[in-house]
Amino acid sequence: MNLLVLGRGKTGALVAEVARERQHAVRALAAAENVRGSALTSEYLLSIDAVIDFTTPEAALENIDACLRAKKNMVVGTTGWYGELPKIRHMVDAAGSGFLYGANFSIGINLFFDVARIASAALSHQYFGQIFERHHARKKDAPSGTAMALQKIIQEASSHELEIVSFREGEVVGMHELTLDSPNDTIYLCHDAKSRRGFAEGAVRAAEWLAGKKGFFEFKDVWREL
Ligand SMILES: NC(=O)c1ccc[n+]([C@@H]2O[C@H](COP(=O)([O-])OP(=O)(O)OC[C@H]3O[C@@H](n4cnc5c(N)ncnc54)[C@H](OP(=O)(O)O)[C@@H]3O)[C@@H](O)[C@H]2O)c1
Repeated sequence: MNLLVLGRGKTGALVAEVARERQHAVRALAAAENVRGSALTSEYLLSIDAVIDFTTPEAALENIDACLRAKKNMVVGTTGWYGELPKIRHMVDAAGSGFLYGANFSIGINLFFDVARIASAALSHQYFGQIFERHHARKKDAPSGTAMALQKIIQEASSHELEIVSFREGEVVGMHELTLDSPNDTIYLCHDAKSRRGFAEGAVRAAEWLAGKKGFFEFKDVWREL
């Protein structure tokens, strides 16, 4: 595939590397080359099969707007813009292109979500639940998109909205913990990312999966098919 990766930061750079390893032709744009989505003209995107975005919340919204105007398939890994989801969904429907987003593209965290969904039954048995998330000090959004996705999954499964406690420290790639505490025992569930490679592999495989598809998709609903 001809892939365009937006963002040459910590995750975007790895996405481009993984995509090349998987035999895709890759172009990548940094912030200075794409101010307010200015590089993403229909002409520039003509030969691109899918765009993968790992930028910032503000840039992602500008990039989404430009890609939808060109009816280009898009995978968005950037978090922190989900207040705009209903509007973007509407725009995707109008464009008739393929769009896939997710707060966390690692297979491991999606398995962790499944385990958390089952364990949330504890909340109906007088357990007290909390979510803790730790990331490197430079992360721009808090709580993490992954912590909010976990909170939503537990709320849907148990009708309990758990508090999220965020820590920003050192070089932590991404750690998410769910604790369920009762007077008798405590359940600890933890997912600890060792590197960003799991996210990058998930994003490239999501772009491959999206080829030839139209519609609005979320990674948690499709990762089993990758
Ligand atoms: N879904 C997942 O699995 C997953 C995994 C990891 C991270 N994320 C999310 O992905 C995003 C990026 O994370 P990161 O750790 O890679 O951050 P990062 O290292 O800060 O990288 C972001 C990059 O985006 C660039 N950028 C900003 N505006 C741009 C534009 N208009 N066009 C092209 N590039 C632009 C920035 O360039 P400058 O440095 O020049 O400003 C920067 O290099 C965050 O929202 C994070 O939460 C998601």
